Amino acid sequence: MTRDKVGRPLGSLRVSVTDRCNLRCRYCMPEQEYVWLPKQSILTFEEITRLVGVFASLGVEKVRLTGGEPLLRHDLPALARMLAGVSGVRDLAMTTNGLLLAKQAEDLRRAGLGRVTVSLDTLRPARMRELARTDKHADVLAGIAGARAAGFPLKLNTVVMRGTNDDELVDLIEFGRAHDAEVRFIEYMDVGGATAWSAEQVFSQREILARLSAHYGAIEAVPTADVAAPAERFRLPDGATFGIVASTTAPFCRSCDRSRLTADGTWFLCLYAERGTDLRESLRSGASDVALKDLITSTWQGRVDRGAEERLAVRDRSPLYQVTALRADPHREMHTRGG
Ligand code: GTP
Ligand code: 5AD
Ligand code: SF4
Repeated sequence: MTRDKVGRPLGSLRVSVTDRCNLRCRYCMPEQEYVWLPKQSILTFEEITRLVGVFASLGVEKVRLTGGEPLLRHDLPALARMLAGVSGVRDLAMTTNGLLLAKQAEDLRRAGLGRVTVSLDTLRPARMRELARTDKHADVLAGIAGARAAGFPLKLNTVVMRGTNDDELVDLIEFGRAHDAEVRFIEYMDVGGATAWSAEQVFSQREILARLSAHYGAIEAVPTADVAAPAERFRLPDGATFGIVASTTAPFCRSCDRSRLTADGTWFLCLYAERGTDLRESLRSGASDVALKDLITSTWQGRVDRGAEERLAVRDRSPLYQVTALRADPHREMHTRGG
């Protein structure tokens, strides 16, 4: 198994299939205009599948399709089918905003996609209009229902922001319960692209637990077998479980086994990393699988990243990048990096 400098295995790969998105969530894409990756730089399905094959041969078992919004990529089920066929990949999942999910859920399931996570920050359409600049809240709900109907195990991701949606925690738990989906509350992170971030808006894991136990009673932690999972899991007195991804106040860098491939084939070892490794160039200049393997292995073996922990040490935190720096290199954006 390939391990990095501090012993973390190369375990999970997040594959962004497009940097485009059909929402403008305030915590991710708050600007009016964006610089997009050049079209000719976007990897084809064949190129993605080849790279995933090389990663899988090095021990990657978990692959997650992300974006931007992955369902904006034409014929995503075809890619899911190709990736489901890669030997060694045992967990193929997707994180989506759900807008286009209802129509494609069946095809994705048949293609071999295993699980789906849908972002759901609010149950109120008017609030979503403010938060994500869309009036299509009903489409997200239809997407969630469609995914369940297609038989997907479902998770719901909620980025909790003070003064925006922190009053909906109980409602979201109840929604998750009614739809047989596990809710995960995510702390607002100061990642690239989150130019509207401020420390005051972070609603912490501690506050989330306090708010929920005030309503439900004592909450207990659920031990997890997957040490690399970003979410800590909890159980309510009535048995319902939920998760919290506390990347801002209690980062999990120590056990992080993930890396991310952008839609143009740049490989990042950390959500916060300043630079990535250009795999497209190697791929398109005819590198053999062995050469790609060597490049990936040696890069991972040099990995020391612990971006979120380093951010924790910063005093008077402000957004990681200002708009000019993001426009100079869109790879710095969370929506390019795939969350
Ligand atoms: P499973 O545990 O396999 O279900 O997936 P996941 O939780 O890794 O995937 P998901 O896309 O739902 O990620 C949850 C959230 O965790 C993301 O939306 C990000 O906010 C955050 N996150 C994902 N990757 C990282 C990372 O490498 N570092 C940090 N600090 N946060 C991350
Ligand atoms: N803080 C926390 N999570 C974020 N995401 C995007 N931007 C942020 C941020 N600033 C997450 C959303 C979504 C995933 C794709 O990325 O939770 O589920
Ligand atoms: Fe929202 Fe995801 Fe789109 Fe970012 S990429 S704007 S989090 S839906």
